[in-house]
Amino acid sequence: MRVIVLDDAIQISNEAAEIIIKQVNKKRDSVIGFATGASPVETYKRIIESYEKGEVTLKHITTFNLDEYVGLDRENVNSYYYFMKDNLFGKTDVDFEKVNFLSGQIDNIDEECARYSAKIRESGGIDIQILGIGTNGHIGFNEPSDNFADGPFAVKLTQSTIDANSKYFEAVGDKMPEYALTMGIGDIMRAKRIILIATGKSKAEAIKKLVEGEVTPACPASILKLHADVTVFVDKDSASLLGDR
Ligand code: PGA
Repeated sequence: MRVIVLDDAIQISNEAAEIIIKQVNKKRDSVIGFATGASPVETYKRIIESYEKGEVTLKHITTFNLDEYVGLDRENVNSYYYFMKDNLFGKTDVDFEKVNFLSGQIDNIDEECARYSAKIRESGGIDIQILGIGTNGHIGFNEPSDNFADGPFAVKLTQSTIDANSKYFEAVGDKMPEYALTMGIGDIMRAKRIILIATGKSKAEAIKKLVEGEVTPACPASILKLHADVTVFVDKDSASLLGDR
């Protein structure tokens, strides 16, 4: 696992976007795993800028997102589908036919999870997976637990995740869902390359556990240490609890 400490989110976004753009320019039908949340937003802005300058086309990529809230339809401003449309896909030439999401609006959760697993497999696997990290060490919505999940599953969100994200729902007078569907740790670990982005003091504990702690499902991100190609981009604040390296 490479840990790269940079000054701020802007520097991180330049580096992270360059990796993704290079990947897509090398293999135009790359399979990219996207994350939502505040962490990757600047990176997505850089990708949009590159697209606008004609430096990259996203027309041929296949996308998989990490997770979705249960009960929200795609047009809900707080759905992660909406987030991706608003923050990246709709501002580039991404082909929405090649956009894959777990659906939060289904009757049969097991069937939906099996469908998503099969889709990832059929795509040939994820070339680059982008990740944020929760203050509790979650990746996707793999919350701290007693075991690592392999494939997609439905999860009850922890209080710390609800505390971190309910502001987005309160802003529009909604209550945050308590359940989500998420890719499993196995799905994430099968990605060929992983980029994790963390900024701000609130992530410092989680980054310390990820980088210096043991591999344990109590800190789901800690398993990334066992992956052969992970780059962790941190700013000075999120790196502030790391010992000398
Ligand atoms: P954030 O969320 O990027 O909004 O901080 C990251 C996460 O919860 O995985």
